[in-house]
Amino acid sequence: MPSVELRLPHHDYQVRIKPGALVQLGSWVREVAPHNRAALIVDRAVVRRHTSALQSLRDNGYDCAQIAIPPDETDLIDRHKNLDLSSWLYDKLLAHHLERHCPVICLGGGVTTDLGGFVAATYLRGVPFVPCPTTLLAMVDASVGGKVGVNLPQGKNLVGCFYQPHLVVIDTDTLSTLSKRQLRFGLAECVKHGMIRDAELFNWTEDNLDAILALDSAALVELVYRNVQIKAQVVMEDEKESGPRAHLNFGHTFAHAIEATAGSETSTAGSQHGEAVALGMIAATRLAVGQRHCAAEVLKRLIHLLKRIGLPTTAANLAPIPRLMETMRLDKKVAGGHIRLVLPHRLGEVSIVEDTPDRIIEAAWESLRQPV
Ligand code: GLY
Repeated sequence: MPSVELRLPHHDYQVRIKPGALVQLGSWVREVAPHNRAALIVDRAVVRRHTSALQSLRDNGYDCAQIAIPPDETDLIDRHKNLDLSSWLYDKLLAHHLERHCPVICLGGGVTTDLGGFVAATYLRGVPFVPCPTTLLAMVDASVGGKVGVNLPQGKNLVGCFYQPHLVVIDTDTLSTLSKRQLRFGLAECVKHGMIRDAELFNWTEDNLDAILALDSAALVELVYRNVQIKAQVVMEDEKESGPRAHLNFGHTFAHAIEATAGSETSTAGSQHGEAVALGMIAATRLAVGQRHCAAEVLKRLIHLLKRIGLPTTAANLAPIPRLMETMRLDKKVAGGHIRLVLPHRLGEVSIVEDTPDRIIEAAWESLRQPV
């Protein structure tokens, strides 16, 4: 069975990847958090689909409370990731008499694992946490690396912490019921991993895309395994994002501005994360090509792959550029007032650039309006 080991200064854990893995969930959780009580926080959208998780926990001796929270797979907006729902979850855990060493297992997409992870990190100052992501996006990104948190009305992920799981369990069979759109969002992050770290992964994704889109089981296991390896490598180098972990933000400075301004009077484009990330990667790469940081061939291959996946490569109805620039400056990743961009040099290699003149960034925004 493919498994990736994260070795961190204060905590090691495994990411286990297997079709049908949820059947073994209970025995695996018992290896890392043996106790007689547990809680399963589950996305209401998947609760009926993946009953083997609860069954397996109960079969392995856990008196396990199942707590269903509002869905994030059908309702893609992450408005449920908030302090009110955290507080509701603390009540449920207390009512079940969950103690200090009892595990909290989270089954669902990134909203469920981020929110459930935040609750696990803060309830009784931290209880064992086992995310079981059911979306590709959560498998290759959110559930690995320990970023947990909730949104505030003022912005996304403004409250949270780094809290590493005890174990991550990925059942790739859960991808078979995912919408094509959700699969594409996850693939945007996989393309990102190839762009920032691994030209070979980028080539492999190009070669195997048809099998991935056809949900071929072996291709999905390989896809998740390779991408978790990249994410794990980056997190092991820089757990708390003081350096190279920021490379994972490739395309995201543009993407967050698209998301934050989407749905306004002037724009409906790129309102979902994966779509915004696709556009953001194109803007950043086009900017890098224009500045002679990167060969035009990289941009060509990036656009071609994103188009094949079915992600947008152009956005005619973006918000006005001054508004996008203002939103970029408000991003929490801005350092000392400078917009920090992650720019590619070649396939598999990026660096952080802080001194890009505004007019160059504005030109990159303008270029997104042009059809390619
Ligand atoms: N999703 C970006 C990170 O984990 O650092």
